[in-house]
Amino acid sequence: MDSGGKQLTFQLMLAVGTAVIGSLQFGYNTGVINAPQATIEAFYNATWIDRYQEPIPKNSLITLWSVSVSMFSVGGMFGSFSVGLFVNRFGRRNSMLMANILAFIAAALMGFSKMCASWEMLIIGRFVVGLYSGLSTGFVPMYVGEVAPTAMRGALGTLHQLGIVIGILVAQVFGIEAIMGNSTLWPFLLGFTFIPAVLQCVLLPFCPESPRYLLINCNEESKAKSVLKKLRGTNDVSADMQEMKEESRQMMREKRVTIPELFRSPLYRQPIIIAIMLQLSQQLSGINAVFYYSTRIFEKAGVEQPVYATIGTGVVNVAFTVVSLFVVERAGRRSLHLLGLLGMAISAILMTIALSLLEQLSWMSYVTIVAIFAFVAFFEIGPGPIPWFIVAELFSQGPRPSAFAVSGFCNWTANFIVGMGFQYVEELCGPYVFIIFTVLLIFFFIFTFFKVPETKGRTFDDIAAGFRAGLDKPSPEELNSLGADSQL
Ligand SMILES: *[C@@H]1O[C@H](CO)[C@@H](O)[C@H](O)[C@H]1NC(C)=O
Repeated sequence: MDSGGKQLTFQLMLAVGTAVIGSLQFGYNTGVINAPQATIEAFYNATWIDRYQEPIPKNSLITLWSVSVSMFSVGGMFGSFSVGLFVNRFGRRNSMLMANILAFIAAALMGFSKMCASWEMLIIGRFVVGLYSGLSTGFVPMYVGEVAPTAMRGALGTLHQLGIVIGILVAQVFGIEAIMGNSTLWPFLLGFTFIPAVLQCVLLPFCPESPRYLLINCNEESKAKSVLKKLRGTNDVSADMQEMKEESRQMMREKRVTIPELFRSPLYRQPIIIAIMLQLSQQLSGINAVFYYSTRIFEKAGVEQPVYATIGTGVVNVAFTVVSLFVVERAGRRSLHLLGLLGMAISAILMTIALSLLEQLSWMSYVTIVAIFAFVAFFEIGPGPIPWFIVAELFSQGPRPSAFAVSGFCNWTANFIVGMGFQYVEELCGPYVFIIFTVLLIFFFIFTFFKVPETKGRTFDDIAAGFRAGLDKPSPEELNSLGADSQL
């Protein structure tokens, strides 16, 4: 007679499916500039010749392209920071609806950049779609988590991750020369973002607002109830209502911790440093060097069909994301992260050896492909999913929003550094560019080994006690000022 809570109703599928379009968009725009790099660079060159009557100097081209790639993460940084401005004021669903304005603007800017002979439009478009993506990475998991029944929250939450990697793969496939990755159709490839945005705008009005938002932020108990009834397909939603009320009460009990407090308090300092380092380990592993630039890397490695090798990385990425969905919940976070970092480091060394032997042994180009596939696979086993997992598990309700804001900021900043710097460093180091990532990976491995605790199956209090054991006891005033232990 367990009616409420485990049913995948039509309303629920519609709500989750529509929200996840936002994740697809994020993935799509991460992967979309990879395959057509050479084609769009030729457009930059032609535009430059038009404007200045001379071919574009190599360094200007590198700069323009790096900016075009990495503006996305600058937008993402601002977007992820602004999530809080929207969700509590306009509601989760309407925030997602409004964000699509950004997707339309971005699609228009990028889609018409060729017609207007303007790389500026493309670069601004990348920034705007980055804004949209940064907002989406906040909106989607929140909305999905709040409409899903407790028993299905984990499973449905993984759809966000899956949406991202599928979006990357779709972009890579569309980037094939025969589809849209050619000199006439690339504006459609970039402007394609328009279509999922239309779809989401059409579907969102049929999706319910988050019941948790209706109850906790708007105090609309009856509305929340009727939304829940539709989502659950049952009239008995008292258990869900009870759970939300309990959560709301708990939120009132625990004071919000601000970002400066996070760093000042000895209680939170160590966990926030760990959260930051884990985010950095995700991005500085070099994963986005692959997702932004793999076609160019394969080309330099003498691979004959570099775009197909890039699609291969997308397929491996999706496959191992699925694998990790099954493993992550069961295995220890710490061991998976260590395994992933180590695997990535070894793959990066293998790749470096292959690239440096390329002149003598042409079959080394195949080793490069294998090494990059392994690099991506190990990423999805550890450094891909684990950092977000651990941040959620290190912080309780009070400090969590601030901890997520800081983590998101560090993540996008590191993403920007890699996107912007990779081509310059590659220019300097040639085949040894991945040695830098190897060194960073080993550093993060050592840090994780000594500093990151296992969080699986432990309560916040237990984890916090572990940190406190390694500290001088904080003074009672400090504890008081944070509102910690106020229940005791
Ligand atoms: C730019 O185009 C000119 C003329 O087509 C060509 O000679 C030159 O190699 C191109 N420059 C780059 C960096 O691709």
